[in-house]
Amino acid sequence: MKVIAIANQKGGVGKTTTTWEIGSCLAAEHKKVLVIDLDQQANLSDYVDADPKKATIYDLLKADNAVEDALQHLDEFDFIAASEKLSKADKEFSAPEDIYLLKSLLEYVDYDYVLIDSNPARNTLLNMCYIASDYILIPTECDAGSITGIDAIYGDLMKYRKLNWSNAQVLGLILNKYEKTSMHTLALETLGEKAEEMGNAPFIMTVRKSIKASESKLALQSMQKYNKYGNPAMDYRKVAAKIIEMTQEA
Ligand SMILES: Nc1ncnc2c1ncn2[C@@H]1O[C@H](COP(=O)(O)OP(=O)(O)O)[C@@H](O)[C@H]1O
Ligand SMILES: [Mg+2]
Repeated sequence: MKVIAIANQKGGVGKTTTTWEIGSCLAAEHKKVLVIDLDQQANLSDYVDADPKKATIYDLLKADNAVEDALQHLDEFDFIAASEKLSKADKEFSAPEDIYLLKSLLEYVDYDYVLIDSNPARNTLLNMCYIASDYILIPTECDAGSITGIDAIYGDLMKYRKLNWSNAQVLGLILNKYEKTSMHTLALETLGEKAEEMGNAPFIMTVRKSIKASESKLALQSMQKYNKYGNPAMDYRKVAAKIIEMTQEA
């Protein structure tokens, strides 16, 4: 089982979109996939039209429910929904050992891939992701803020790796909403430098910008369903193929 957290402390860079598309693509490649929405905004839970009667990841972290109570069997993948109560996470899960809660939960499931959509904050939930994950996938936009966000994520990850609490590596950097402009070329260069510093040769790939990304969400469909031959959908299939290639080597 490979656990991949999709992370960037900046909002709006494409974490949720990436989680959904990659989940969809891996499922299309006959992988058994679990997607967890770990963002209090619960965007992905809304988009996949999650069952509100089911327990959420918050209930599982609180140990109020068993994993089965939260598992939702959707068309493409299994899903565990978020709850707005996750906003209380820093207060609720403040004991030092609580950082292992997510990792412990995952011992109860068996999938080829677990994908975790994370919140745009460097809080206890994101720290739980570093501990629970084998890989971190970082979507970013071209702007300085979301590119600097990568350093923060990497710094936090390194902290946990040095303590031997985490074995996670950065799997790849995705320059999302890509267009052929000189700014984007420059951003790709910067990402290249950052990837080099990371040592383990994470991939750098682009996902092109398209209004279909927003349209598909209004239709409550992944782009893999809504607009399969659109640019972002095709780009995400390439990213998923790369992910399979890189995680199978390991
Ligand atoms: N490739 C893309 N082209 C155009 N818009 C995109 C693309 N990827 C994501 N978006 C849009 O950008 C917004 C933020 O994306 P989202 O995945 O919710 O980011 P995050 O989870 O990081 O906050 C959404 O409206 C989404 O539809
Ligand atoms: Mg999101």
